[in-house]
Amino acid sequence: MMTTNEIIALEGRYDSDLYSKQPLVIVRGEGARLWDTDGKAYIDCIGGHGVANVGHTNPAVIKAIKEQAQRLWACPNGFYNDRRAQLLAELIRVAPPGMERVFLCNSGAEAVEAALKFARVSTGRTKVVAAMRGFHGRTFGALSATWRKAYRQPFEPLVPGFEFVPYNRLEQMRQAVDEETAAVILEAVQGEGGVIPGDGEYLRGVQALCQERGALFIVDEVQTGFGRTGRMFASQHYDLQPDLMCVAKGIASGFPMGAVLLSSRVGDLPPKSHGTTFGGNPMACAAALATINFIESEGLPQRAAKLGAQLMDGLKAITSPLVREVRGLGLMVGMELKGKSAPYLAALAERGVLALSAGATVMRFLPPLVISTEEVDTVVEQVAEVLCAEQVKVEAGDCGANV
Ligand SMILES: Cc1ncc(COP(=O)(O)O)c(C=O)c1O
Repeated sequence: MMTTNEIIALEGRYDSDLYSKQPLVIVRGEGARLWDTDGKAYIDCIGGHGVANVGHTNPAVIKAIKEQAQRLWACPNGFYNDRRAQLLAELIRVAPPGMERVFLCNSGAEAVEAALKFARVSTGRTKVVAAMRGFHGRTFGALSATWRKAYRQPFEPLVPGFEFVPYNRLEQMRQAVDEETAAVILEAVQGEGGVIPGDGEYLRGVQALCQERGALFIVDEVQTGFGRTGRMFASQHYDLQPDLMCVAKGIASGFPMGAVLLSSRVGDLPPKSHGTTFGGNPMACAAALATINFIESEGLPQRAAKLGAQLMDGLKAITSPLVREVRGLGLMVGMELKGKSAPYLAALAERGVLALSAGATVMRFLPPLVISTEEVDTVVEQVAEVLCAEQVKVEAGDCGANV
């Protein structure tokens, strides 16, 4: 058995150096809890970056993966497969209305990449309008639709034809979309950009604008999908009917998978114009089928709505001058601070709560949707203590959790 320090040294020596890592070695998970090598437990409000919606090591998903592992792992898309057929039908059944076909892939960026290619080939146009503060992934197409300069600059020149407009501002979008626009791509709730919920009128307005001007509307539900925001998909809050909808993260509970759902507004795709070796493999399909079944049978979207409200109310009740705003949708919650969030996130981890950042100043909470009410209370208490501990250094003022 390697010690904690040996694991950190080994991974630190050979990993790509692309990630800034916390000095924690996580080795086990169950529900909304994680454990490190010393046996210390954490309430997990990172959820594998919004992946573990049904909880870590969910028994229903384990069973599905085990059964499939004994039958078939690889099945290229040139053949039919029982699990894949079932999953395609299930995705269309739970999707917003108007979805007709699905392209299965392996990650969020791959889903965005495919959606951009489909939009170009279907419209014969090349321009794409995306939002400031938007995040869509790190491959060249997805990165070209991603706003933050630090992600883009080292890799320029990127794919040409991308333009950025402010999020939730319809007038600016109206000025940007024209007869050369292949697609508009937006998140229904901006995640990485700071947990910014889309305005319903704005999103419906963008959809109408796309229809009017012959562009396709791509909704990126990679982070918001599969119950996270209180509906199966965030688009359903707003009665949206995207032309292309990108999903990944929670789709298969951590088994790598992504998908693009396509409406009839996307024309026929030329055969062989896109493809993937691993996309739609039976293992991922089995994991996704079990995941969707669990989300529905356990009413996880409703649970996310209820516990998300509890978390947001609790965080809003914290009286600290360090807090600028608490916002979110369902169990996708952001607490914007007036300064950098990193020291508070580190202090939270020490107290047994893991959360992640969204930009420099926002603490983001993406717990498994099976998190308990008691665990949510503990998260709120710990956030209050961390903020108060810091404030007390400045002034002995009114500071606390009113949970
Ligand atoms: C909205 C959104 N789109 C796309 C991606 C990219 O997904 P992946 O990391 O699986 O490539 C992410 C990842 O965080 C995301 O939040």
